Amino acid sequence: MDVVVRRARREDLDEVIRINELTLPEHYPRWFWEDHLRNWGEAFLVAEVEGRIVGYVMTRVEYGPGYVVPEPMVRKGHIVSIAVLPEFRRRGIGTRLMEEAMRVLRDVYGCKEVYLEVRVSNTPAIRLYEKLGFRKVRVIPMYYLDGEDAYLMARPL
Ligand code: ACO
Ligand code: ZN
Repeated sequence: MDVVVRRARREDLDEVIRINELTLPEHYPRWFWEDHLRNWGEAFLVAEVEGRIVGYVMTRVEYGPGYVVPEPMVRKGHIVSIAVLPEFRRRGIGTRLMEEAMRVLRDVYGCKEVYLEVRVSNTPAIRLYEKLGFRKVRVIPMYYLDGEDAYLMARPL
């Protein structure tokens, strides 16, 4: 199976939003997606199989105290949302999206660390992040609208 990971374009957003709505309970207004594409577009990626978008990762860059880099002010990559269509999972696509996004966050945007929030029950995603060297930094109680807690996970870049 040939998987192409490339930068997202504006005309991909309908499909990206569709995948998000199909696979995750966390949804965002269209301007939110457009905003991330405009501001941090080099690290907003899609995975394509035979010309069809099957996954995405959307990120942004923030500046503040490090979670794992012991500095008071550090550029941090924030993995806002990642998803792969169910029928394309467990083939390394999530890993490729994450690795390429982290490379861009480091090399293009100068980030020193990367972090994200994930539901404490989301074992597949937590495994993926741990495999990529993220560690659980803390629990954020009641982070999600339905009351579930999140792990904040991070790693240096
Ligand atoms: N059970 C256990 N471990 C898993 C699972 C699973 N179902 N899925 C992935 N992993 C772990 C494994 O260690 C796997 O390696 P292996 O296949 O060699 O054992 C490793 O993660 C890498 O898996 P990939 O194939 O690279 O990941 P995939 O393409 O399947 O995508 C993803 C993973 C994105 C989490 C996918 O399951 C998904 O879209 N889930 C629904 C959306 C979601 O939960 N997104 C994350 C929310 S948090 C956030 O967005 C910041
Ligand atoms: Zn977040």
